[in-house]
Amino acid sequence: MDLWADFLTNQGKVIHKWEHYFPIYERHFSPWRGRSLTFLEIGVARGGSLQMWRRYFGPLARIVGIDIDPRCKAHEEDGVFVRIGDQSDPAFLASVIEEFGVPDVVLDDGSHEAPHIQATFEHLYPQLPKNGVYMVEDLHCAYWPKFGGSLDGPGTFINIAKGLIDKLNADHTEGAVAPDAFTRETFSIGFYDSIVVLEKGQVWRKQAPAIGKQPGGLSTIFK
Ligand SMILES: C[S@@+](CC[C@H](N)C(=O)[O-])C[C@H]1O[C@@H](n2cnc3c(N)ncnc32)[C@H](O)[C@@H]1O
Repeated sequence: MDLWADFLTNQGKVIHKWEHYFPIYERHFSPWRGRSLTFLEIGVARGGSLQMWRRYFGPLARIVGIDIDPRCKAHEEDGVFVRIGDQSDPAFLASVIEEFGVPDVVLDDGSHEAPHIQATFEHLYPQLPKNGVYMVEDLHCAYWPKFGGSLDGPGTFINIAKGLIDKLNADHTEGAVAPDAFTRETFSIGFYDSIVVLEKGQVWRKQAPAIGKQPGGLSTIFK
């Protein structure tokens, strides 16, 4: 069963997701199905999404939810763990990592307030493994004043992620942007309606070998 079918037929707890997220989840999360990953969702609410992730990723997955609302603790079940704290508190995030290890995949569906999203990202992203995935959803809130958003607000995650495009390409900016760990460890930044997703990778080799010098020679290129 794919995730969309699971969502449509859900008889469990309430899941708060926009419909157009499902193809995006499938694109970025499906390689992790059936694997022993640690999946961290920020924002538990009524617990339905944690159950959905558990069904989707399978029995080897460890699903960890964090939420500021102590009532969310009630949503723990087999393979699903909930810890209570503020997503913008580095000490709390450190305690979650101390207990569960660094997550492979992070989905930020928490407060949707720009400073919180930024603080969580700055704490967690550098620690993710080299094939880790970091997704932030509901970024329509980055444009909405009631969440502290605006088109030009420098602290919204949409605008932070736009700036990270230059970090990704820092090697080609002729010194304008200094390459850093983000440049070396980020494979891609994807923008979707209301979602930004970053994929880590070990990006160290950036070159276009001269024609005829490619491994395998011309026969490889033109076959
Ligand atoms: C949109 S709901 C999560 C929905 C859930 N992921 C789902 O798909 O069903 C957002 C949750 O974030 C929690 N939250 C708000 N501020 C937070 C903060 N600073 N740290 C952690 N969680 C927070 C709220 O209590 C709420 O349960």
